Amino acid sequence: MTVSYSQSSVASDGVLDSHPRLAALTGSLRVPVVAAPMFLVSGPELVIEACRAGIVGAFPTVNARTVEELDAWMTRITAALAPSRGGRATAPWAANVITHSTNLRLEQDLELVARHRPPIVVTALGGPKRAVEVVHGYGGIVVADVVTLALARKAVEAGVDGLACVSAGAGGHTGFMSPFAFISAVRKLTDGLVIVGGGIADGQGVAGAVAAGADLVYMGTRFIATRESLAVTDYKQMIVDSDLDDLLVSPAITGTPASWLKPSLRRAGYDPERMPDKPERNYDSSQQGPKRWKDVWSAGQGVGAVGAIEPVAAVVDRLALEYEAALERIAGLGGATAKTAAVRR
Ligand SMILES: Cc1cc2nc3c(=O)[nH]c(=O)nc-3n(C[C@H](O)[C@H](O)[C@H](O)COP(=O)(O)O)c2cc1C
Repeated sequence: MTVSYSQSSVASDGVLDSHPRLAALTGSLRVPVVAAPMFLVSGPELVIEACRAGIVGAFPTVNARTVEELDAWMTRITAALAPSRGGRATAPWAANVITHSTNLRLEQDLELVARHRPPIVVTALGGPKRAVEVVHGYGGIVVADVVTLALARKAVEAGVDGLACVSAGAGGHTGFMSPFAFISAVRKLTDGLVIVGGGIADGQGVAGAVAAGADLVYMGTRFIATRESLAVTDYKQMIVDSDLDDLLVSPAITGTPASWLKPSLRRAGYDPERMPDKPERNYDSSQQGPKRWKDVWSAGQGVGAVGAIEPVAAVVDRLALEYEAALERIAGLGGATAKTAAVRR
């Protein structure tokens, strides 16, 4: 079984046919996956290697501590991914901007977005309107990160091109919907790009999400223990050593329910059985105390799929093989649906 980089493996159901830009985006990928943006984890190396491997690479702009650093990161990413004569095309990159009012850097970060033109901007934790104005100004794609149908509806009304439906099982500030229920509900709202995330960490899961109507899968936890991630080695090793039972969803650390690794809670002095009341919500990264994200580590329910600290390219190779195998399995099941899938491939 061979997986060619340039040939898309995406099983399109035709939903994006009326959106050539979005269809071109999904069709350009080796596996329909976004290495999702992760606070203190995703930096330029992870983004560049993800895009070189054929999936979308994304990072939160607040990971760069200053606007000057963000400028340097974006310069580095655009230079590394610039099309070279005769060279292999790379997948598009994405910047994730926190649009909540407590993010004091929002306007400065959007200025840099306008200058460096990431092909995709993902908005999180606030309304996407301002980002839509800026990003549509240069022809980019705006995706809003949403955890409820109400937020999805508002984002569609604000003019986004796509939704990142963060569902139950997700790492970071987690979601609560079943990914399958969420996909079908948002498909009634939009024929735009639908990305789904939450506990999906292998190619079989990607095939399931695509079969359910998603265009792309948002995968965070799977990339924490990569060589290129900014996570400290102890965090990476804890990801490798942990399983589903090692997770606790709690609002106690940031004020919003997030999925935490219990061993890291214990190391930071918390008792996972007796978590304190939740603090104020605040997304100003400069105000975050030392214990948030830095000393208390997050993972989603896909954590058990990670067996080693590896380069991003090796992870994407495995995802591609698993995805192809899952598509073949579906095609081999027989019946009208499977025959249709086989014809499309
Ligand atoms: C450590 C960590 C940090 C995260 N930080 C952010 C962030 O800064 N912005 C954001 O939009 N999502 C963030 N997320 C959520 C991811 O973008 C994505 O929605 C999630 O990881 C998908 O679920 P999965 O981890 O089960 O693959 C974070 C996730 C993790 C695990």
